[in-house]
Amino acid sequence: MPRRRLSTPRPALLLVAGLLAGPVALACSSRPAPEERPAPARPAQADSSSPAPAPSEAEERADPLSYARPEEVVVRELDLALDVLFAEERIAGVATYRIERRSPTAPLHLDTRGLEIEAVEAAVKPAAGVAESWAPTTFTLGAVDPLLGAALTVNLPESADRVRVRYRTSSDGASGLHWLTPAQTSGDSPFLYSQSQAIHARSWVPSQDSPAIRTPVRATVTVDRPLRPVMAANDDGVSADGERPLYRFSIDEPIPAYLLAIAVGELEKRELGPRTAVWAEPAVLPRAAAELAEIESMLPAIEDDFGRYRWGRYEVLILPPSFPFGGMENPIVTFATPTILAGDRSLISLIAHELAHSWSGNLVTNATWDDLWLNEGPTTYLERRIIEELYGRERAEMEATLGKALLRESLAELPEEQQLLRSGVRGQDPDAVFSDIAYEKGALFLRTLEETYGRETFDPFLRAWFDEHAFTGQNTAAFVDFVRARLLDVATPLPGKKAPDLTHWIYGPGLPTDAPEPSAAGFAAVEADAEAWLAGRLHSRALGKTWGPLHWLHFLGQLPPDLAAARLAELDHHHQLTASDNRELLAIWLEVAVRRRYRGVDERLRWFLTTIGRRKFLTPLYLAILAADGDSERARSIYEAARSTYHPIARESLDPLLLPQEALRADAAGPAAGPAK
Ligand code: BES
Ligand code: ZN
Repeated sequence: MPRRRLSTPRPALLLVAGLLAGPVALACSSRPAPEERPAPARPAQADSSSPAPAPSEAEERADPLSYARPEEVVVRELDLALDVLFAEERIAGVATYRIERRSPTAPLHLDTRGLEIEAVEAAVKPAAGVAESWAPTTFTLGAVDPLLGAALTVNLPESADRVRVRYRTSSDGASGLHWLTPAQTSGDSPFLYSQSQAIHARSWVPSQDSPAIRTPVRATVTVDRPLRPVMAANDDGVSADGERPLYRFSIDEPIPAYLLAIAVGELEKRELGPRTAVWAEPAVLPRAAAELAEIESMLPAIEDDFGRYRWGRYEVLILPPSFPFGGMENPIVTFATPTILAGDRSLISLIAHELAHSWSGNLVTNATWDDLWLNEGPTTYLERRIIEELYGRERAEMEATLGKALLRESLAELPEEQQLLRSGVRGQDPDAVFSDIAYEKGALFLRTLEETYGRETFDPFLRAWFDEHAFTGQNTAAFVDFVRARLLDVATPLPGKKAPDLTHWIYGPGLPTDAPEPSAAGFAAVEADAEAWLAGRLHSRALGKTWGPLHWLHFLGQLPPDLAAARLAELDHHHQLTASDNRELLAIWLEVAVRRRYRGVDERLRWFLTTIGRRKFLTPLYLAILAADGDSERARSIYEAARSTYHPIARESLDPLLLPQEALRADAAGPAAGPAK
């Protein structure tokens, strides 16, 4: 299932919303660089006539969103002892780092956001038979940058090779943690989950929070019974059987900080196959297990062509509905929204997507967030290869067609510098500059390579990219070089094909004219029916006899903006779209209906917005209400009721649209601690 724009609202509608809400600064503005950080390099933006020049190697290498200086001191191992304190909604932690010192005198710089640092100690590697000795060392917590947080600079005694930091997460809440009341779950217990991508790990673990820096991780987690923690790591069992048991986790494969993940709740596991399992709260588990019954077969679907799965087990954790994303590819345990539990496995491509990240993203990782497309583009491509293998070409083509339609929409709406695969503007808040471009344009680029050279050549090429760069961070320039060296310079395009224009694809706006055109026979039939229905030649009742949710989505995409509300009422009467249990279809239907002022959805709309916190559904729906009403009363009243249940990431996207000006100003003037509340 293709995602729609995740957060970046349509500029035209933003204007409407902006007019309604007054002149607010939108979340997508870039933020100032803190003084002690070297100013990030910002390459010239693309102009409309020619693609932007490729950034220089130096520009490519540095991560403008991290204080870490791995060229001086780099963390090689991370050990966490976490105590999860629900009463305070805080984690108290001790993080221990084994460091490699590349400069003998340089301090260690760690990223933090809102953390209270209680003590910092350093130790020298003990000689055999000698107990290691820890001693306090000096440190500074730098000025707070609203986007980056504060650098924790630890002075290192001579030959110290280990550092440990005792800390607590902010009493105002951490931007990467969401604490839920029992009412927000499906049981009687509270719940906690993390979301670290892109730069939120630093709000719950002091870390070198840059995607190119990776470490193996060990962790212990203490929680209250009957809660249990699940981490994105191997489950090494539980010790102590008192009221506060201690759970152990480890992952030997090195991971970047954005893949650190924890969830704590009343969680149970159901095995699905030899390597796969699903976690959920007890009330959700049976439905989750039925929906995900096929995921074991997804592993060979990708391993056969692209190399073995390197992470041991693959599990999925179904979170409560406030989770702001569809899925997050936390290693070993994907975190997923319950909105994929449609009852008919129709939304399973989300799991295919997160699983595919086990290669593109978790194994070979974007070196900086400006290279995000290198994670998401190949993953979206692989997601559809899995769908093709499991459910056939037609379904994969339907998903690709829906994806391309969204891409066209985004391209029509986004300024040119946001249409590039390699981000044209460095150092922006990754939560704010998010769109379909990285996903769908990225997937089309990979598909272009596939169609130009054929799968016999392309598949081994992509597999080699993964194998030869396993467990490293890579940037766009490295991928482009690899494409040149392993395809363009050595392989012959299939008859009638010519080598793609790499510069245009990667560094240019829009889509090259020879971009692939997915096509699904079933969708051609949908288009014909839509035309006939719109022209009054086909009765509503006669629609959709053989359609699944994807056909309906395509059908809704064909409806003109000025379609009369009465025609939607007719559709609803015959097909109960407002009652649909498929959240993906329901979200689109609600948006279509709200925009055309069909009021039969009002109650369901309110229910949806106050129950589900997935940002890609929320933003378009609120924008639709604002645009349809011409004032912000209804949207604001729903938001007021729902806001406290949304994740900080969702709130940060929606506040500028829906909070009164005074509240926004007060918030901006508030404590500079950083984390969005
Ligand atoms: N890794 C992303 C989610 C993400 C990206 C979080 C960037 C924070 C910053 C995840 O793999 C993803 O793309 N999720 C999609 C679903 C997918 C099927 C396209 C989502 O959440 O909608
Ligand atoms: Zn993804």
